[in-house]
Amino acid sequence: MSRKKVTIAELQEKKQKKQKITMLTAYDYPTARLLDQAGIDTVLVGDSGGMVALGYESTVPVTMEEMLFMSKAAARGIESAFLIADMPFMSYQVSAKEALANAGRLLKEGNAQAVKLEGGREHADIVYKMTYAGIPVMAHLGLTPQSVNQLGGYKVQGKNEDAAKNIIRDAKILEEAGAFSLVLECVPQTLAKEISASLTIPTIGIGAGNDCDGQVLVINDMLGITDRAVPKFVKQYALMKNEIKNAVKSYISEVKAGAFPDEGHSYK
Ligand code: KIV
Repeated sequence: MSRKKVTIAELQEKKQKKQKITMLTAYDYPTARLLDQAGIDTVLVGDSGGMVALGYESTVPVTMEEMLFMSKAAARGIESAFLIADMPFMSYQVSAKEALANAGRLLKEGNAQAVKLEGGREHADIVYKMTYAGIPVMAHLGLTPQSVNQLGGYKVQGKNEDAAKNIIRDAKILEEAGAFSLVLECVPQTLAKEISASLTIPTIGIGAGNDCDGQVLVINDMLGITDRAVPKFVKQYALMKNEIKNAVKSYISEVKAGAFPDEGHSYK
């Protein structure tokens, strides 16, 4: 039986009812389809796809065209989940006009239902303009990977009192600007708890403990389709890289030995 289409109102209602929101990333049609069929609430076409699907060292080089390509593919696999696409680095920082045009492309061409952008109060004006142009915005605070060159690495954020206060203030400002939800990445659990309790919009945590209104993980990390060391907050629900390698090794040895294709896989 097919599910109803997930809406922003439903996500916000889940927060009120204290029901956790589920989100995972996807960058292609088959993965998005499997997540949707498994019953995920929201699919994020994250710019993490630049690293785990396209092989970049960071998310900095990811382009609008690459995000559109991944978003379009994921959208084709989705019937019910709410689809959010990341705004890549420098697609929203140059001017409000460019930011609006790029966000619009992610909805019109990428078939996403909302966009996500990294950063705090400096982007409040853009969040406001997008929201009131009909483009729902998910905000993203804490560790913002597009700023890795400024942050000096992928580190836990908001550890001291001033930094924590800054994040709390940013969260409030972005909510007031119209963001419908907020990702909190790599912040102490207590800080995420305080922010989640102080906002009416749902928070989605990644490395932010169990008190957020929902959780997100990068799909390749949680399925174990990666060679890079995964951060402490990632739980690997499978180690699919081993299964894939073993299947490929079996194929190679059967082809070499002339055992594949056998009669059952050939036409008479
Ligand atoms: O790009 C991404 O996948 C993200 C999530 C980690 C939140 O921003």
